[in-house]
Amino acid sequence: MKTRTHMCGQLRAAEIGKAVRLMGWVQRRRDHGGLVFIDLRDHTGITQVVFNSDINPLAHEQAQPLRNEFVICISGIVSPRPTGMANPNLPTGDIDVMVDCLEILNEAKTPPFMIEDDADITDVLRLKYRYLDLRRPKMQRLLALRHQVTACVRSFLNEQAFLEVETPMLTKSTPEGARDYLVPSRVNPGSFFALPQSPQLFKQILMVAGTDRYYQIARCFRDEDLRFDRQPEFTQIDLEMAFVDREQVMALAEQMISVVFQTTRGISLAIPFPRLSYQKAMDRYGSDKPDLRFDMPLHDLTAFAAHTEFKVFKETVGKGGIVKALIVKGGGSFARSRIDALGETAKAFGAKGLAWVKIASDRQLESVIAKFLNAPALVAALPSAEPGDLVIFGADQPKIVYDVLGRLRLLLAEELNLIDKEAWRPLWVLDFPLLNYDEADKRFVAVHHPFTAPLDEDIGSLESAPVKARAKAYDMVVNGNEIGGGSIRIHRREVQSKLFDLLGIGKEESSAKFGFLLEALEYGAPPHGGIAFGLDRLVMLLGGADSIRDVIPFPKTQKAQCLMTEAPSPVSPEQLRDLSIKIDKIN
Ligand code: AMO
Ligand code: AMP
Repeated sequence: MKTRTHMCGQLRAAEIGKAVRLMGWVQRRRDHGGLVFIDLRDHTGITQVVFNSDINPLAHEQAQPLRNEFVICISGIVSPRPTGMANPNLPTGDIDVMVDCLEILNEAKTPPFMIEDDADITDVLRLKYRYLDLRRPKMQRLLALRHQVTACVRSFLNEQAFLEVETPMLTKSTPEGARDYLVPSRVNPGSFFALPQSPQLFKQILMVAGTDRYYQIARCFRDEDLRFDRQPEFTQIDLEMAFVDREQVMALAEQMISVVFQTTRGISLAIPFPRLSYQKAMDRYGSDKPDLRFDMPLHDLTAFAAHTEFKVFKETVGKGGIVKALIVKGGGSFARSRIDALGETAKAFGAKGLAWVKIASDRQLESVIAKFLNAPALVAALPSAEPGDLVIFGADQPKIVYDVLGRLRLLLAEELNLIDKEAWRPLWVLDFPLLNYDEADKRFVAVHHPFTAPLDEDIGSLESAPVKARAKAYDMVVNGNEIGGGSIRIHRREVQSKLFDLLGIGKEESSAKFGFLLEALEYGAPPHGGIAFGLDRLVMLLGGADSIRDVIPFPKTQKAQCLMTEAPSPVSPEQLRDLSIKIDKIN
């Protein structure tokens, strides 16, 4: 086959007069009788090519059947566009190629949607015809960005003496807290592999193996509820380092992220990133991944609430709950219907209600609950509240108050345009609790994973006050997205055993699940720690995409299906028999 001389986005005025050969897809065909114009597209851009019946009647004739998405090869001469016809919006807009030879390389059915950025397409169509969706320039740009990010990460880590190591896909369950995807073993009937939720156990084993610095662009699998930033199959930039403490891992990680931002988007992030403890982040923003592009903090009114006549507040505090408030600047002008709608949203987020007051010009309160509240005391407890503001309250157990007000904070900031869309606000969230008490199961669970080390000063309190123990863990958050998380690991067997005891993981269970890691820890495990970044989330942020689905070439739907291949799908009875599996019909 003949070869291209140029790409479709490449030609400029400097090439005028040259004979060129281009190949690509027909973006658009405009027929002006003696002149047929084709916008010819490849992943680099578009060139307008012209079939002129006066110059080359044969080629002009051949151009008649061309339709959108036909694949063609043209050769011709680069010519200047006639005066006034240049297109300043197109990099190739100064020139045309006057075609003297056309070859149709392939025909195309009429595509179900136009291959252009602002085409109005349903998600179902996009995913079913993903190869057409990916042809759109925006998707091509995101694919390229993803490549640039991984290339940049690889080159950064290679320079820092990291070794890229692959770990198995067919393996044992890893404790990241989601359900496993299982793969039956034909030759071991009744036994299953689990697809890794992360390479966590293997990267720790690699540290014991003396690898010193490991990384992997690693595929992870988690069977969990899907959202805009969660896919069942996603990719981590996973790394682990031996003989380090938190500071070294965090310093390297923020350096890597700032190099990625600088290289791929020209964005400078100031190092070191600011830090917030988990508790501060929750208290101030109601979230462990606060968006710092705007402030609008939560205010604590628990002390005020203990002394008020308002039953909702008083009783909540009496039951060990808390009361917090958000000040909505200028919210005094909200109509009642708008406030009621906020209340409904709060209920949908899990609140029992959403008490509110407006601060009037005389600093009196306007509200149905005004008569129960002491206005001067409330205003004194909220020094930043001003006349014209709306104050909304959450009264409940801390978890609910944080969640509801944290989410309302984001929603209101979006509605009130408080978010600087050009800003980049990375931060570290530190000192997460090591354990959570699961009320339903009546047991402790690891907040991160069970190999995360407690802070040295909290090891003593592990037994006396387990929920108070904090972890040597860190999350990196950018503009309200958790893009990475990691920790220093437990490298001593006795600390690990103590933790398993606390988690109610018995000897038998721990050796069945993680026996190999526990044994490895007994053969000279160095102190070690690491972090994993969600590559998809990172590219989504950098590319300004709305969902990680836009930066994963072949993603799954909300129901974890691939609409293009129609996976998952039933298998033949023979395959099931081979695997010693019987399906119990669900419906
Ligand atoms: P963690 O579970 O926090 O840590 O995952 C690390 C990062 O991976 C991304 N992420 C996801 N992205 C898309 N879809 C998902 N379903 C999904 N789940 C997680 C997030 C998250 O910050 N082994 C530990 C890391 C370590 O301790 O070194 C781990 O997997 O951006
Ligand atoms: P009630 O006494 O239930 O009629 O509630 C009075 C006001 O307090 C209403 O505006 C409710 O929306 C609000 N409210 C009720 N429960 C809570 C709560 N747990 N937190 C915040 N506001 C609440």
